[in-house]
Amino acid sequence: MCGIIGYIGSKQVYPIVIQGLKRLEYRGYDSAGMAIINGDTKIYKKQGKVADFEEHTKNFDVAGTVGMGHTRWATHGEPNDMNAHPHRSENGYFTVIHNGIIENYAVLKRKLEAKGYKFHSDTDTEVLVNLIEYYYINGNLSAEVAVRLALSKVIGAYGIVVSCSKEPDTLIAARKGSPLVIGVGNNEHFIASDAAPIVEHTKTVIYLNNDNIAIIKRNELTLKTLDNIKLSPQIQQLQLDIKAIEKDGYEHFMLKEIFEQPKSIRDTFRGRLSHDLTDIRLGGLLHVMDKLIRARRILILGCGTSWHAGLVGEYLFEEYARMPVEVEYASEFRYRNPIVYSDDVVIAISQSGETADTLSAIEVAKKDNATVLGICNVVGSSIPRETHAGVYTHAGPEIGVASTKAFTAQVTILAMLALKLSKQRNTISDEDYHKFISELNNIPEKIDEILQFNEEYKKIAAIYKDASNFLYLGRGYYFPVALEGALKLKEISYIHAEGYPAAEMKHGPIALIDNKMPVVVIATQDKSYEKIVSNIQEVKARNGIVIAVVSKGDKVISKIADHVLEIPHTYPALSSLLTVIPLQLLSYHIAVMRGCNVDQPRNLAKSVTVE
Ligand code: F6R
Repeated sequence: MCGIIGYIGSKQVYPIVIQGLKRLEYRGYDSAGMAIINGDTKIYKKQGKVADFEEHTKNFDVAGTVGMGHTRWATHGEPNDMNAHPHRSENGYFTVIHNGIIENYAVLKRKLEAKGYKFHSDTDTEVLVNLIEYYYINGNLSAEVAVRLALSKVIGAYGIVVSCSKEPDTLIAARKGSPLVIGVGNNEHFIASDAAPIVEHTKTVIYLNNDNIAIIKRNELTLKTLDNIKLSPQIQQLQLDIKAIEKDGYEHFMLKEIFEQPKSIRDTFRGRLSHDLTDIRLGGLLHVMDKLIRARRILILGCGTSWHAGLVGEYLFEEYARMPVEVEYASEFRYRNPIVYSDDVVIAISQSGETADTLSAIEVAKKDNATVLGICNVVGSSIPRETHAGVYTHAGPEIGVASTKAFTAQVTILAMLALKLSKQRNTISDEDYHKFISELNNIPEKIDEILQFNEEYKKIAAIYKDASNFLYLGRGYYFPVALEGALKLKEISYIHAEGYPAAEMKHGPIALIDNKMPVVVIATQDKSYEKIVSNIQEVKARNGIVIAVVSKGDKVISKIADHVLEIPHTYPALSSLLTVIPLQLLSYHIAVMRGCNVDQPRNLAKSVTVE
């Protein structure tokens, strides 16, 4: 949510920041802006995409080797030029870009107004930059001390980059909640919301921790806590490959990421399935395995697609490990007064590792002394650092805003964990354990098979692209897939879609069925097959349109449904990894045909770092 990039070095800052903003644009795309510090500080901003900003500034004076840029996902104030970042303080001493929310901005604003400060935007960031300036002028402080003092008065979340006109060879970065990473180059430094804009310049990075501030010059970096305690920076090497953050010939990141799934799933289980496929190793969980085996209950927390993966996890843990599981929306969990036992194990699932609601829910669980584990994709992100142990999905950077390969990677980890637990709890026979692992190993190949039907999905998309509503139905493991299919469609094509457990249809949604609304039914062969066939009959009896995802060679549903999308046979417990693929592609093609921006759907951002 909001992308931040800063640079100080000897190269021209403008192209570095523009390229960085393009890499960060998935975090927000309401407006973009840049400040270039070169004698004075020039600030340029524009509502719209980074490309609009680039066009807007093409004839401007952009010379300079120090600067910062921002791509915005609006929280306070509508997306317009005025509210775009950077923000400058009233007397021009300070410039700030900010990712996060200053929750007490209204109180601070009133205090500053009483001191004569005037505000020109609706943002909380303008309050912060003026607060810094107020302390700077009135306390006769250095820029660093003024920033630290101002941040001590702030409630909320921030990742900020600050420059002071009196100290033009310094950038100051600070974080609480919103991520920041510093790239260390040769006589130069980069500051960004994530590693994507940094990796093409340097692989040497320092992740800023909460309540840390960095005072950054070209060839010097000082790291401190906000209480002024000096820290030694922990330097790390990025494993990220630049190819992973490019489209690689695909029209959209989302399509690339859908097609990457055979590889991303292999990457997820690489080194974790033994060579002879007889065992599973999850190194990151070794020291908590005992707690997991004896856990009173598993609580799974997540948002959106990650919550859907959590639902699949619930079925897996219950069926195989025979453990009680609850799956909670992180945002609801944290604000209830949840009962958490110290022998509960909490699993937080998050692609970005930065979702504010999930992070706050983790805090709640930790306060009650539960063991908290993370399943995250972004290495070095906040959730892995806030949890007791965890497993990375290693799906590679997911840049399309709609989550695809992260979902299948999360489910893969959950399947491995459920299986490992069932082995250790003696709830599975050796034979079944080995068979399951072998079948998991076959999943990438089966996804490859499904992807070959892409043109078929495109044809179906062309028929239904103008529908106003879709219903998605599934039972058991396929209910979360129905939810995920509906979410994919609504978020990228803006078609209203609902996912339901198939049996619930007759308790209400059946009233919606007519000859205009496509009903997507996940109906592969498992123990509820007969029941789902009956559900399809019920839809057809009311002139409904049925698009059914079925097992290869299905002879029954192909006679009743309007369209069938065949998938290879697998265990029902692994079938969500296959059945979700046609649904992802169906949504993708519908959205493209409707002229939607699939990688950057309206109002959304990839990483939701505000509550
Ligand atoms: C949907 C989607 C979102 C995310 C949700 C959680 O396609 O991407 O629903 O799944 O915002 O994000 P993470 O997994 O980063 O915590």
